[in-house]
Amino acid sequence: MKVAEIDARKRNIMNSPKVGGSCEVDAVPYLRDLGIEISDKKQPIQFTPNFSERVHRWAGYIQGFSAEFVQSIIDDYRQEYDSLHILDPFAGCGTVLVQSKLSGYPSVGTELNPLLAFLADVKVNSWAVSPRALVTMYEALARNIRKPSPAFLKSGKQFKPAILKELSCINGAIDSIKARGKNQKRLKDLLRLAFSSILIECSNLKRTPCLGYSRSKVVDAGAPWRLFGQKVHQIANDLKTIQNGFKESIAVESKVVCANSMEYQHQRPFNLAITSPPYMNGLDYVMNYKIEMAWLGFTSDHKQAKKIKDSMVVCDNVSKALIRNFSQSDSRYTNDWIDDITHNIRRGIQRRGNYRRPDMPFIVAKYFDDLHRVMRNVVVSLNPGGRFVLVIGDSLIADVYVPTDLILAKIGQELGLKIEKIEKEETGVPVKCGVIVYVRL
Ligand SMILES: C[S@@+](CC[C@H](N)C(=O)[O-])C[C@H]1O[C@@H](n2cnc3c(N)ncnc32)[C@H](O)[C@@H]1O
Repeated sequence: MKVAEIDARKRNIMNSPKVGGSCEVDAVPYLRDLGIEISDKKQPIQFTPNFSERVHRWAGYIQGFSAEFVQSIIDDYRQEYDSLHILDPFAGCGTVLVQSKLSGYPSVGTELNPLLAFLADVKVNSWAVSPRALVTMYEALARNIRKPSPAFLKSGKQFKPAILKELSCINGAIDSIKARGKNQKRLKDLLRLAFSSILIECSNLKRTPCLGYSRSKVVDAGAPWRLFGQKVHQIANDLKTIQNGFKESIAVESKVVCANSMEYQHQRPFNLAITSPPYMNGLDYVMNYKIEMAWLGFTSDHKQAKKIKDSMVVCDNVSKALIRNFSQSDSRYTNDWIDDITHNIRRGIQRRGNYRRPDMPFIVAKYFDDLHRVMRNVVVSLNPGGRFVLVIGDSLIADVYVPTDLILAKIGQELGLKIEKIEKEETGVPVKCGVIVYVRL
């Protein structure tokens, strides 16, 4: 493996005394307790293939799962219900919603990052827009109105001067469109989506999946207008395909709610929930999207961004104050597995002498408390007999194996779900990614 390919996660695993250990062995006592065996999942679940799939490719999202995987779940269960009504409590940029709509089923997604909720909404609620009108609106854009780059970002470092000037012109041009009526608003939103999706490509940054500077990247002076034009034409072509091949899907209801899934109560019941929650020591879903969020006006300062981040399912980049408050609360969910694991993590941190987040045991405890809240909401939103498919990876924290999938399986059981099966996808490291299928009793 080349050094450049070793990310922080892999380095952490390689430095761990657990190298050579395996999730298969570590998971045994938990599986015995649950009384279940794990089977192999043959199908990859990562988002990457979506970069070439119609609609999904409008705004790529490394953290998403593959359209093909979502489709296989829909296909597995469509015969079992008179009709499907599908929920995704962590909608991201809308993979589940897009596939549901293409299959002719209504769906609702909740997503707390307003940028991602916007992208998901535009991806599913613009299918009736005329592709010709979109290209005409793009071609009529004024090229000389500049909107300053977001004040709180280090735009001068993130973009070359000529690129920054061009991006400011595209943003100014889109902003100056006076959208009258719903249709015009949809057209404008498609242009905003197209603009957001070229920002990282035009920058000195890369997202792999964390946002960082790329020394080797070369962006030519004309890139912003060229890439923006290409994106608009790609969207127009996909709209044509949908309007020719998926006419019946256009009117199918797809709703995106920008809300916290730990709190949001759905009005109508569902019979299928498909989701992939944030992974435990995973990503900061706000700071990694701060460029697009700021340029599109979804956040205007760090304080606002931090507030959204601290409301999400916890990651290891949240504020220390949030974790301190959590550690002092006595009304949190836990179970004996979580207690054991957090205790071992505390000992692992002591053994190592230092750790990026000494409060990691509480971050882990909060992660399960957060997911318990979300799962409780999903369970009350499911009809009896309804299915809940959850995709999650496990973790290695301070040399302690955390079988996140199995802990969530156990939480599901406690909440009144029956585990129908757990499948695993190989990840090539001593951790695995599990697909849990529950049935509501
Ligand atoms: C793994 S991603 C989901 C990706 C999605 N399956 C897709 O393919 O686009 C998890 C998402 O959960 C969102 N999220 C985190 N905490 C949330 C919360 N409390 N309520 C709603 N969404 C949340 C994050 O912003 C992130 O987009």
